[in-house]
Amino acid sequence: MNHERMKNEPGLVCTCNDLYRESIEIEAAEGCEDSEEIMYAHATFFRCGECKPIIDKIITDVA
Ligand code: FES
Repeated sequence: MNHERMKNEPGLVCTCNDLYRESIEIEAAEGCEDSEEIMYAHATFFRCGECKPIIDKIITDVA
């Protein structure tokens, strides 16, 4: 996770894969149930994994 990039781009959640809050919220609303599914939807995977709790929280908040 690149904390400097996150500070400069408030909507950026996963700096390893360039995933933004808005797209995660849309995917959660469309039925993605956990952060693994979000990664799958973007055809990628966790690299450092630091964003996992943030993504899980976004999904919980949307549900
Ligand atoms: S920030 Fe590293 S995997 Fe998401």
